[in-house]
Amino acid sequence: MSQTQHKIAVVGTGYVGLTSGACLAHLGHLVTCVDVDETKIKSISSGVMPIYEEGLAELVAGGQSSGNLGFTTSLEEAVRDAEFVFLCLPTPPGADGMADISAIRLVVMQLRGLLRPGTIIVNKSTVPVNSTYMVQELINEPSVDVVSNPEFLREGSAVHDFLHPDRIVVGCTNPIAGERVGALYFGTRSPVLVTDPVSAESIKYMANAFLAMKISFVNQAAEYCDSVGADVIEVMKGLSFDPRIGQTFLNPGPGWGGSCFPKDTKALVVSATESGSPMTLIEEAINANLMHIDHITRLITRAAESSRASEPRICLLGLTFKANTDDTRESPALAIHQRLVEHFTNVVVYDPLAKVPESHIFNRVDSLVDAIRDADVVAILTEWSEFAELQPDLVASHMRGDTIIDGRYLLNKQDFAAAGLSVISIGR
Ligand code: UDX
Repeated sequence: MSQTQHKIAVVGTGYVGLTSGACLAHLGHLVTCVDVDETKIKSISSGVMPIYEEGLAELVAGGQSSGNLGFTTSLEEAVRDAEFVFLCLPTPPGADGMADISAIRLVVMQLRGLLRPGTIIVNKSTVPVNSTYMVQELINEPSVDVVSNPEFLREGSAVHDFLHPDRIVVGCTNPIAGERVGALYFGTRSPVLVTDPVSAESIKYMANAFLAMKISFVNQAAEYCDSVGADVIEVMKGLSFDPRIGQTFLNPGPGWGGSCFPKDTKALVVSATESGSPMTLIEEAINANLMHIDHITRLITRAAESSRASEPRICLLGLTFKANTDDTRESPALAIHQRLVEHFTNVVVYDPLAKVPESHIFNRVDSLVDAIRDADVVAILTEWSEFAELQPDLVASHMRGDTIIDGRYLLNKQDFAAAGLSVISIGR
């Protein structure tokens, strides 16, 4: 059986919208992506992606040349013939901590009167529970169904995740509309869970909260292992054989960040408290993450203070919240940098791809070797592969000091010890 081609409009070309649009076109659908940002649309149309995402540029180019993928700034043009309108709009934290859905409200108001009868609005943005019902009321057209279809795309592997999803979650009141949305993903061969809208909206929050809690657990376990003299990597390996725990998402690090976990955990805590069923575990996971970032900052500070230099040079390797993305939103590395520059005058940073906010001032260098040159302390904060490939002799010949804080557990301690360097990781 082959995929039936459908006409789809994708509103918003952020990492979720652009990835979804390009992938839906790749699956054989006729997709028009629309965004109010003219510069962005021009740039994407000419092959320059606004974000770094592996495989995305190729997919966009493929879609354009097959004629399956187009871009516009006109909402009317995009949705005119669309059978499905995907909403992939920003839902940043509002003043109360909950996701602010004003961008969604605005677009839905603009959609009124533009949709042909029977169009299905598919919401991919992460939204507070009941938003699907809210959109249904706002659009106020009986023949238009609104369906929740949360995304579970990881930055850096968003294209892969879209085309090979663990599951497709569809929340709807009209099961026929839900099934039609699930069928759009036919080519991905993934299981489809059709449920009610509030459950679908909750699945997204619970999934991210659970994963954030898992990392907080691992990082606290690393601190525990440090205190009792256990090796956290061995301990996590021992846990990973149990299928109830699973083999992935067990890597200790400098703390979790990114555009989703921090905002979604906060939003869930607020919404749970408001609903009368506080999720205290998630509040603790957030606190534990902040404390862990403090912990690793103290470790770097102590190492710098105990170096012989009067003005120690600290080299931070990595600024993005994880590898294979240029995103530094809520990155623990940024928080650590911020705190260190309050105490030290000589902090140098290197990251191969990071896009940094203009409000942060960095002494940033363009090469790894320039970064480690004359450093008294080196701290690895992102798991970029080039950091894992660091050669002990090269590092030893460029550093002034001898301490490396390996916040991502990339280096072999023995190899570096043989070159006269001390590699410190929490719980190892
Ligand atoms: C996450 C979810 O995984 C995705 O399903 C959702 O749609 C968006 O949020 P993303 O923000 O891209 O994706 O990052 P993810 O790969 O999940 O990592 C989140 C944070 O946890 C990063 O800071 C990462 O470094 C950290 N992490 C992850 C660890 O420290 N250890 C791990 O083992 C895994």
